[in-house]
Amino acid sequence: MRRYSRITGTGSYLPPRRLSNADLVAELAVSGVETSDDWIVERTGIRARHFAAVDVVCSDLATAAAKNALQAAGVDARDIDLIIVATSTPDMVFPSTACIVQHKLGAPGGAAFDVQAVCSGFVYALTIADAMIQTGAANKALVIGSEIFSRILDFKDRTTCVLFGDGAGAVVLEASKTPGILASDLHADGKHVGILCVPGHVSGGHITGDPLLKMDGQAVFKLAVGVLEDAARATLEKAGKTQADIDWLIPHQANIRIMQSTAKKLKLSMDKVIVTVDQHGNTSAASIPLALDAGVRAGKVKPGQLLMLEGVGGGFTWGAVLLNL
Ligand code: UT7
Repeated sequence: MRRYSRITGTGSYLPPRRLSNADLVAELAVSGVETSDDWIVERTGIRARHFAAVDVVCSDLATAAAKNALQAAGVDARDIDLIIVATSTPDMVFPSTACIVQHKLGAPGGAAFDVQAVCSGFVYALTIADAMIQTGAANKALVIGSEIFSRILDFKDRTTCVLFGDGAGAVVLEASKTPGILASDLHADGKHVGILCVPGHVSGGHITGDPLLKMDGQAVFKLAVGVLEDAARATLEKAGKTQADIDWLIPHQANIRIMQSTAKKLKLSMDKVIVTVDQHGNTSAASIPLALDAGVRAGKVKPGQLLMLEGVGGGFTWGAVLLNL
């Protein structure tokens, strides 16, 4: 009999320090960086974000989100045989944040590794976990998106520092006789490396290059709108579904205007889109599982519904996963 994978629990975690736009505007003004609540809301839809404390690392957020997902699924950490963490802000150069999470959860023995696809990381990680479950390489997986983007922001660059936040989201994905994940579609185009990157790296005990985020926002915006529509249509076609079948679109939360444009192209009302960018900002690989968990815990996203998850980000990477919850 064919094996499928299915999400059996979701969880998330936001660090307690919440900055409204007004709080951030006031902090930035101290160092002479001018921005405003009006500009941020009008151009992005963001009203607030959370920033982790200095002594908190990516695996702390990931572990907290994973514990919530395990509890929701009713699964014991010791039964997890695969942990994938999607992140661009890992605790260390190596080992992987997933190995650190595995230890913090007390879930030894299974496979654990990180996926680096920036804001598409969660859909990449979910697709890999699904494939491993389908082939029998894993039975119960934790798929986590966790980021501390506040560590790589240039707080002198108003075009980027107002956009991002910290947080983590997680799902438990289990083997199932009935299909949960129906189709995935992943892509990358490395010629666009320069439009969204953190170009520095560690070399000989020093940072070579600039270790802060650089983004050509307009170039990213234009590419994002096109590829998100393509990825959504590709997964629908693979699964033999149409956009009318979608109960919830849960896109990467970067900018409300990108989400509105994607919804319009797919002929979906914004009532069918889970929006958390207003409260979380852009949390990169964490944004989709954070939004999913927010939708589930608000009682909007329910078992049996058809969900379209889609991400886009640095690389340039993009992709979508269509699933029955
Ligand atoms: O997570 C990965 C995916 N990332 C994304 O999807 C991000 C995609 N890009 C975007 O969301 C948008 O391009 C931004 C939100 C980054 C920028 O919005 P925009 O409408 O493309 O603005 P813009 O870059 O065209 O800038 C318009 C103006 C400029 O001033 P001038 O040249 O018209 O005088 C900027 O200097 O807004 C100015 N500006 C700001 N003003 C106040 C840029 N940032 C700010 C700011 N506060 N924070």
